[in-house]
Amino acid sequence: FKAPIPVNEPVRSYSPGSADRANLKRALAEARESVTEIPQYIGSEQVFSGVRENVTMPHDHRHVLAHYHIGTEEDVRKAIDAALAKSSSWAAMSWEHRAAIFLKAADLIAGPYRYKLNAATMQGQSKNAYQAEIDSACELIDFLRFNVAFMTQIYADQPSSSPGCWNRMVYRPLEGFVFALTPFNFTAIAGNLPAAPALMGNVVVWKPAFSQLYAANLIMQIFREAGLPDGVINMILVDGPDAGKVIFEHESFAGLHFTGSTAVFREIWKTIGNNLPKYRSFPRIVGETGGKDFVLVHSSADPLPVAAALVRGAFEYQGQKCSAASRAYIPSDRWPDIRKEIVAMLKEVKMGPVEDFRNFVNAVIDERAFDKIAGYLSQAKEDGLEVLWGGNADKSTGYFVEPTVLVTKDPYYRTMVEEIFGPVLTVFVFEPSDFEQVISMVDRTSPYALTGALFCNDREVVAHAADRLSNAAGNFYINDKPTGAVVGQQPFGGARASGTNDKAGAMQNLLRWVSSRTIKETF
Ligand code: SER
Repeated sequence: FKAPIPVNEPVRSYSPGSADRANLKRALAEARESVTEIPQYIGSEQVFSGVRENVTMPHDHRHVLAHYHIGTEEDVRKAIDAALAKSSSWAAMSWEHRAAIFLKAADLIAGPYRYKLNAATMQGQSKNAYQAEIDSACELIDFLRFNVAFMTQIYADQPSSSPGCWNRMVYRPLEGFVFALTPFNFTAIAGNLPAAPALMGNVVVWKPAFSQLYAANLIMQIFREAGLPDGVINMILVDGPDAGKVIFEHESFAGLHFTGSTAVFREIWKTIGNNLPKYRSFPRIVGETGGKDFVLVHSSADPLPVAAALVRGAFEYQGQKCSAASRAYIPSDRWPDIRKEIVAMLKEVKMGPVEDFRNFVNAVIDERAFDKIAGYLSQAKEDGLEVLWGGNADKSTGYFVEPTVLVTKDPYYRTMVEEIFGPVLTVFVFEPSDFEQVISMVDRTSPYALTGALFCNDREVVAHAADRLSNAAGNFYINDKPTGAVVGQQPFGGARASGTNDKAGAMQNLLRWVSSRTIKETF
């Protein structure tokens, strides 16, 4: 099998005076000038129902970017029918042609759509230019290109044969349709969740998060421009629970590709379990859910990289990454230096709308998220936690929450153990001699196991702690922040309450979208 050997898409800097920055600014200005109408995509039809909701900017919530046209349960049925009508011809298309469509989509994003898609992610999801670039440009492009390489690796894996007997494996798509349910926080994930099963020959019904729709709509258009046949990916705009009623009752429901909250994933899993007798096959369930990601510091660590990792890991994209650093365990002999560095860095951090490229922190996604995070902050103040930095929130023009560092004496305090999904870092300072107990505490105190980081310059301690924490994080970082996994380099996913650990950006994920057929032929 021959497919282009992927190389990670280089990250552009959008530095002052660069052509990239001018082009991105132009795309941002253009997007502000018009209001997009977002339809459902069902088979060959774009369905404008006329029942509309606003898509607004989190950092300027009075500005309407788009209207989306809400669908009905009947539309979900139609989307399933459109998908199933396409399933045999799509499955019959040779892998090269399926690959070519997604490789072309990657090139369209890398080239003509780069600024437009980044601008859509910036304005629709309130990401700064760098965060948009590493998401809607680089990570999405990488997913699309690396998936093709992983696909060919899978197809190339064949059993052994013997004289007079030829054994072979045929990697079929699942029989039925896959449901992709995607989150607001990464445009790359929103694109990859329908694209990965489709690349493997499956047909898909896709329900994006309404708060990510401005960019999701563009992804749909890019896939179509790249040559994706109508009906392979169908985008529906129906509330999750209403869509679920139709999807999870259908006999041809064959797989779920999900990123979102642990609570929703559990509910869906229960529904699928209850409906099992209705299905033709046991559905594949792939989900990436929450995290309560730790940074554990040893006395041998250097303060500066720890502080940088905490500021970036906790506050990039306002902490709205399931991988975000949200609890730190720091020994008292390092804390004064680390604390000084954190404060010095946060003094330089600016917060505001995405159009001003100096703003490192932008708004959180919506009012619900804002109220939840603000609730944690007022509770922490009431409970007498030390607020080392930030602590305030204001939603008058946009949903702005200051990057906040809390210091607690209680390692079981709420913000040390509950997922907040916002720019809140809680620090627990321990006696260096308690390091061993703290390792156990890090492992025990969170139900999640997504990412975690250890800062340590003593190799024996690194080996020991990494081993003791082997179930605490699906992605474990030694002397680095726990965010920013790169496709093809750090396959991403966690276990426990963080999901099925099927590693996005790796062969493990694509294997879930095939139903292998073994053929033995004797001569
Ligand atoms: N893959 C992202 C990261 O590593 C989170 O979804 O930060």
